[in-house]
Amino acid sequence: MVGSPVPPTRVAVLISGSGSNMAALIDATKADDAPYEVVLVLSNKPDAGGLAVAEAKGVPTAAVDHRPFGKDREAHERAIDAILMEHGVEVVALAGYMRLLTPWLVSRWDGRMLNIHPSLLPKYPGLDTHARAIEAGDTEAGCTVHLVTEGVDEGPALGQAAVPVLADDTPAALAQRVLTAEHRLYPETLAAFCRDR
Ligand code: GRF
Repeated sequence: MVGSPVPPTRVAVLISGSGSNMAALIDATKADDAPYEVVLVLSNKPDAGGLAVAEAKGVPTAAVDHRPFGKDREAHERAIDAILMEHGVEVVALAGYMRLLTPWLVSRWDGRMLNIHPSLLPKYPGLDTHARAIEAGDTEAGCTVHLVTEGVDEGPALGQAAVPVLADDTPAALAQRVLTAEHRLYPETLAAFCRDR
């Protein structure tokens, strides 16, 4: 007997900026057998450029400005989480979401929240990854998709892609090369993750 098809996983993408990874994640859902759908793009910055990009692609958006919450990070996250619930979100993909998360949100989405980081973790967690790779004389750089845990950029890796560091590379040139790799890696890794759930 043939079972009914598994519905695609309902994914929310959290952004703070231009959202080029978010756009790649949405574009990959155009495939007939896409194992996930992006049901919401949410930003902590109401003026994030990515929100207009998502709207143009027909994906619902929301913004929860962190500023009125002051130092109460958890209250901000609770407001976000309520919107995730309203949209029936099953998996959260962080894509350039520039807020440190509290243990509350991390534990709430334990095993169901992914992030993309522009380095070959465990090398270079945190910021300025491209400058640090060049400074160290690395011949290879890249990106990592990982599960989110309490330690920043420390969760188990689900996928990595490497690119060469070229002679005379600048951080900006390397960042662009890594970003192109990110746009392939994140949709592939999220799709595999959702298929395996
Ligand atoms: C990417 O480099 C990603 O790895 C990092 O933040 C950047 C976001 O870029 N976490 P974009 O907003 O997806 O263009």
